[in-house]
Formats: sequence, C-alpha cells, structure tokens
Amino acid sequence: LVERAHQIVQISNTGQRFLKGKELNDLVVLQGDKGGYSILVDRDGFIADVDTSKVISAKYDICDVDVVIDATGQCILPGFVDAHTHPVWAGDRVHEFAMKLAGATYMDIHKMGGGIHFTVSQTRQADEEELFTSLRDRLAQMVQSGTTLVECKSGYGLDLENEVKMLKVIERARKEGGVDISSTYCGAHAVPAGKTAQEATDDVIRNQIPHIRRLVEAGELQVDNIDVFCELGVFDLNQSRDILKAGKDVGLQINFHGEELHRLNSAEMGAELQAHAISHLEEISESGIEAMASSGSVAVVLPTTAYTLRLKPPPVRAMIESGVTVALGSDYNPNAHCLAMPLVMNLACVTMKMSMTEALVAATLNAAHALGKSESHGSLEVGKVGNMVLVAAPSWEHLIYQMGSHNNLIWRVVWRGQTVYH
Ligand code: NIG
Ligand code: FE
Repeated sequence: LVERAHQIVQISNTGQRFLKGKELNDLVVLQGDKGGYSILVDRDGFIADVDTSKVISAKYDICDVDVVIDATGQCILPGFVDAHTHPVWAGDRVHEFAMKLAGATYMDIHKMGGGIHFTVSQTRQADEEELFTSLRDRLAQMVQSGTTLVECKSGYGLDLENEVKMLKVIERARKEGGVDISSTYCGAHAVPAGKTAQEATDDVIRNQIPHIRRLVEAGELQVDNIDVFCELGVFDLNQSRDILKAGKDVGLQINFHGEELHRLNSAEMGAELQAHAISHLEEISESGIEAMASSGSVAVVLPTTAYTLRLKPPPVRAMIESGVTVALGSDYNPNAHCLAMPLVMNLACVTMKMSMTEALVAATLNAAHALGKSESHGSLEVGKVGNMVLVAAPSWEHLIYQMGSHNNLIWRVVWRGQTVYH
C-alpha cells in the first residue's frame, strides 16, 4: 500500500451503519458494532479494505496512512450515481415553467419552437468557455449533493459543430476530475428546424456518428453512450432503432429516452438491441416490462420529470416485481431543474412507491450498472473506486426523509479518496 502514488485515506465511523453493496439488487445494510467500520482507500483512489475498525487497525500500521477522516457518528454511503442528465446548456426556461403551470403541455411548448428548440438556439450561440464554466458550476452542485458519478448528455447542438462542442466541454470536465463522468452523444434529441426527422436521422448516421468516431479514435474525445429521444413527433421507432444501431456499431452503449409521453413500444425495441438502459418509461406496457426483464436493460426512472410535467409515474413496482433493474437519474435539464439525488430519492419513494432501500440501490449500484460501471462504482467494495458520501444523521434514511435538507446532512463527499466537498 505504501508503495503506491498519491495518498492513503482511512475513513472510520463508530457505532453507526454503512452500506455495502454485494451485488446488483442486493445492497446489504450493516449495523455497525461499537467499534464502527473503516474503509481504506489506496493511493490510486481505490478501496483497499473494508472492515470493522478493530480488524483494520490490527492489519495496518496507522503510520502508513496519510489522511485519517474521523467520521464518528456518521453514516457512510457509496457516492451517488446520477444515471441521466443534460447539464450542458445556456439560457434557462423559467418562463416556460410559468407557461406549464398555466396549463401548457411539454409538447405544446416544443411544437411552438420552445422547449429543447429554445435551449438549442441559446446553446449554439454560447462558446465552449461559457458552457464549460456553467457545467463546472452545475457539477459542483451535484457533488455537494453527494453525486460522484454522473452521466452527461450532449443534445442541444443538433448539428455536428455544436454537438462536438458540447462533447468537448464534457470531456474537459472529465479530465478536470472531482467527479466521474459517463458521456452520451444525444445528437438526435430533437429534429432541428429546417429538417425532417428522416433527414436528421440520416445526418446523425452518415455524418455525425462517423465524425465523432474519428475524434474518439484520435484520442480527442471519449464518448460512452448513444441516446435518441424516441417520441411521437420527434424520432419514430424505426429512425430511433437505426440511430441506436449505428451508435452500437461504433462501440457506444445504448442508453435512450423511450415511452415517455406516448407508448411506441420502444422498450421492446431497446430490449431487442440489448440496450444498456432506457429512460423515462412512463408509458411502458406489460410486454415492454417483460422484454426489459429478459434483456437485462436497466430502467432509468426520472421522478423529477414526471413530477414537473405532472405525468403518471412509470410502473416501478411492476418493473421490480418482474425483475427489471431500476435505476434513478435527476434528468437535470432546463425543464426539470434538479441537481440533487437525495431529493430524487425522496420523490421516487413518494411518487413511485419505492422503499428507501430500493431508492438508495437505484441511486448507487443500479445507476452504475445503467452506465456499464457496476464493476467499479456504486458500492463500497474492495477494488472499487473510493467514492463516498458521509452523512451526519442518526441513520442514512434521514437523507431521504428530510426532503431538501441534504445540504445540512451531507458532511463530506469523497471522490477517489480525496475530499471534494466538506
Ligand atoms: O429527459 N425528453 C427529452 N429530453 C429531456 C428534456 C430536455 C429538455 O426539455 O430540454 C428529458 O426530460
Ligand atoms: Fe432526458
């Protein structure tokens, strides 16, 4: 241990619980004994050992430890994973929030040239520097709310130049560190003005994806996932399938918006393509649930969107009972302006009938699985990254129960062994 690079961090609590994920859908709650628990993070930022403090102190010489974080009385949770966000954009849509409160629907506003189209025009005008500054600020707020791995989408460029600009901004944030990022190319987030959906599909497949692939091969970008907004009046089932297949062919993980406002059977389509994840799913059918259960595609449910748009929530109980892996995302975007996973978990419990433990699993291990990262993220296990949230509360459930109080309850956030918020 001492031979490795950076620093060794030991985090201990006393007489409290921490959560250790053993495997998918099996997060085990451990009640700490009097001695509490210790987590040892090696100098590369990975968890080297997890055990009772008694065992850890017998096994290691305290002199070899560079930093000791005394978390007596705290609960230690895995860092939260936000499986769905749109965090790169300029301009806000507070005026549209007022329109929606007055009765306009999401699609009414979209068809009038607002919604995603409004954000596209603002984002196209913004330069990389401006977009990076606001992204960094938003990521910092997410980290303060306990997020240590976040999926970040492009999708407000809708042309090659601006989609690449967004992906470069995400890449810069990834390189800067402080939070882990899974990046998603979402060039088919809406049909740009002046094009038909088929023309936009062809542009994405023939022009944008090959160009992005070249940038990835040249080492200028890292892109992990491919996304499309499969929806009535946006990209239909066949166009969405073609886009997702083209992304998969160049090595991207399929992770897309489906069954949100209308049932198009995109859950079945995604399952057929072995999608890693499908988001929203308010309108999923029973056969869609069965298809996702057998393909192992993760259902990423987004309580903030259903709440803001007053949609019927997705049938999460039926999904869980059928064996679908359910994950959570904030869906942070100008329509659903929420950066905080503790609030997302609260909404998931109340509006989607999840238990607090299910919500925590969905916001950690299952969300990591949605991003293809459950081997390295989402639970406190030896060999995984040392990403943790330390909660100053009598039990971890308070973080969900005390809605909106996470800024008081989160005492410290650790990313790869380094304190990134305190
Ligand atoms: O996940 N539904 C499509 N995409 C986003 C909304 C993006 C926007 O309205 O700017 C979502 O809710
Ligand atoms: Fe979204």
